[in-house]
Amino acid sequence: MNASGLIQIGLILLCITTIFSIQCNHLPVQQRKVVENSLQLLDKMGKRFPQQCLREKMSFRFPKQVLKPRQKETVKVAIEEIFQHIFYIFSKNLTLAAWNGTALEQFQNGLYQQIEQLEACVIKKHTHYFRSKEVNRLKLKKYFHKIDCFLNDKQHSLCSWEISRAEMRRCLQLIDKVIRKLNN
Ligand SMILES: *[C@@H]1O[C@H](CO)[C@@H](O)[C@H](O)[C@H]1NC(C)=O
Ligand SMILES: *[C@@H]1O[C@H](CO)[C@@H](O)[C@H](O)[C@H]1NC(C)=O
Repeated sequence: MNASGLIQIGLILLCITTIFSIQCNHLPVQQRKVVENSLQLLDKMGKRFPQQCLREKMSFRFPKQVLKPRQKETVKVAIEEIFQHIFYIFSKNLTLAAWNGTALEQFQNGLYQQIEQLEACVIKKHTHYFRSKEVNRLKLKKYFHKIDCFLNDKQHSLCSWEISRAEMRRCLQLIDKVIRKLNN
């Protein structure tokens, strides 16, 4: 390879790194956007909560303490984990939910893109946080595991999905509040 080829590669790498760090700097803004979009899409993908599902309602008890912002980085990591869990939940069998496929896809894509970016920005830089925040991690795991089991037990019925969708909305609303506080 000649010198100009190398320079070109160097320039491309420089651009990628610059774009990358810009994106990482805007992480809180992006997180907020993703949460806002996801909330809108959750509402768009289905109708109002069906009355007939009321009696199947469950309380999953979101572990609020994982979002108590003592350290911004810790909260960011927790939010990242929550996004991953939500993405996982919404990759289950959605046939009976009968939601708007376009809105659902946009919801999944939005989360996925954000997960990829956050992984690059947060996790790799702060691996030590993950180890020190094992307690929070387990709490989140337990919470989402409960939802997962609930969906499995109900064989991903329409009501189990509507109840989970309502739960995820509450969860994202909580995150929305926390992000607003962090950014102020
Ligand atoms: C999803 O659930 C529906 C309805 O219970 C079932 O007919 C279908 O086979 C399931 N699909 C997968 C991929 O498991
Ligand atoms: C489904 O959602 C998309 C995107 O949010 C929207 O444009 C479309 O009108 C919706 N379709 C129905 C049938 O509600």
